[in-house]
Amino acid sequence: MVAPFESAVEIPAEAFPPEAAVHAVNPWVALAYLIAGICFILALRGLSSPATSRSGNRYGMAGMLIAVVTTLVTHEIASLPEILAAIAIGGAIGFVIARRIAMTAMPQLVAAFHSLVGLAAVLVAVAAFLNPDAFGILGADGNILTVSRVEMALGAAIGAITFSGSVIAFAKLNGNMSGSPILLPGRHLINLGTLAAILAMTAGFALSAHAGPGEHPIFWVLLAASFAIGFLLIIPIGGADMPVVVSMLNSYSGWAAAAMGFTLHNTAMIVTGALVGSSGAILSYIMCRAMNRSFLSVIAGGFGAQGGGGDAGEARTERPWKRGSAEDAAFLLKEAGQVIIIPGYGMAVAQAQHVLREMGDLLKEHGVTVKYAIHPVAGRMPGHMNVLLAEANVPYDEVFELEDINSEFAQTDVAFIIGANDVVNPAARNDRSSPIYGMPVFDVEKAKTIFFIKRSMGGVGYAGVDNDVFYMDQTMMLLGDAKKVVEEIVKAL
Ligand code: TAP
Repeated sequence: MVAPFESAVEIPAEAFPPEAAVHAVNPWVALAYLIAGICFILALRGLSSPATSRSGNRYGMAGMLIAVVTTLVTHEIASLPEILAAIAIGGAIGFVIARRIAMTAMPQLVAAFHSLVGLAAVLVAVAAFLNPDAFGILGADGNILTVSRVEMALGAAIGAITFSGSVIAFAKLNGNMSGSPILLPGRHLINLGTLAAILAMTAGFALSAHAGPGEHPIFWVLLAASFAIGFLLIIPIGGADMPVVVSMLNSYSGWAAAAMGFTLHNTAMIVTGALVGSSGAILSYIMCRAMNRSFLSVIAGGFGAQGGGGDAGEARTERPWKRGSAEDAAFLLKEAGQVIIIPGYGMAVAQAQHVLREMGDLLKEHGVTVKYAIHPVAGRMPGHMNVLLAEANVPYDEVFELEDINSEFAQTDVAFIIGANDVVNPAARNDRSSPIYGMPVFDVEKAKTIFFIKRSMGGVGYAGVDNDVFYMDQTMMLLGDAKKVVEEIVKAL
């Protein structure tokens, strides 16, 4: 065992349980993992602002390179050819999927990848349970070490919840399953009972006197209950709350990775998993606040869900509305003092961000003040709009968060809504029965003129509800693909 420093106090040998397997950590490996951990913290720091996000990405890549190379150099459980073969197969599959996937299908892809992290944690726990000797966690009395049993049970439970929860999230986001909440009678009681049973089984497994390799059947029951609770927690969550679910599952996948790190005695995995877990939890909390939802009620599985969501409802096209042309829009935009652009999911579908920036540049040349307003859940993943606008080189100081710009609509000449819908829907403020009720939205109706770009009057937003803004006196609908419409406006300008 490596002694990093001399202790002034003699520690009696009896202080260590005789069966404890000691995992000597090479100090160089510990140092490399420490540096990787620091890089990951700097990466998160950098990614917290668009201006420093590039350097954040570089720190993240450097940290990951150090961690991967160190693990390859010090591989213990599998041989190098096995590891390289696994990397080649997994990398090839990941490469092909990432190339093929449309930007709009990103949330379901993220959910699918989270499910794999959960499954990996389950498989590591199962492997350690069946062959603890290979992991150095078999005590001299023939039982798996108590602390390892706790780690294994937690890893298996969190991994299984992440797996089944992510599979359901994938199915909902991908349209394989209805986005509406599925509310089982007595679901809170069932959920609480299952969670309590999982905790009791973890304690039973840890304290059992007979816990040799693959010996304790309670481990399998615990695993089955955890798969079930992942499923039960996500099915009652409605479409409008899916952003929180995606970031919550991101957090769970981090904790699952940390649990794997304990079983595999890999400090880098513990640190990285804990960073992903805690940052995902903070992001979920921020998203809940942005949508005015209680964090606890969302993680408790659709507490307060009233139905609706996903694909409910149809636009009431029979109400009178006004249609505008690109020429009308160009004329009014040019004359405006201030224009606030509100991008949403449709901008991502149309990939209209580049031509939108061109339009913004032209307006600025005409002396118009141009600002971009981004709602925390606009698009289909956290930061979706920020990424697209940054890709189109929209200056960061023109991009504003909801709470920083919402008071400005009253002094704004034109609110330019491009592919957004739910995030500008006043039903969130006025209609208690609406699935988006309570979510803070942009006060676009306070602007003098509203341009609303979408493809048809029949289409609805993610929450599937009609939008009163379509029918307001000051609203002009610019129907068509967002990119084409903005291209025509740019031509007219
Ligand atoms: P949505 O409410 O989904 O509205 C999108 C709008 O874009 C629709 O009105 C659609 O109408 C229009 N559109 C689609 N393709 C278009 C195209 N090619 N050209 C022009 N318009 C197009 O979008 P939002 O306002 O960004 O709201 C986000 C919603 O997604 C919220 O309900 C949020 O809770 C949910 N959500 C968010 C996330 C995250 S993390 N951001 C994750 C999952 C769900 P047409 O069909 O008529 O064109």
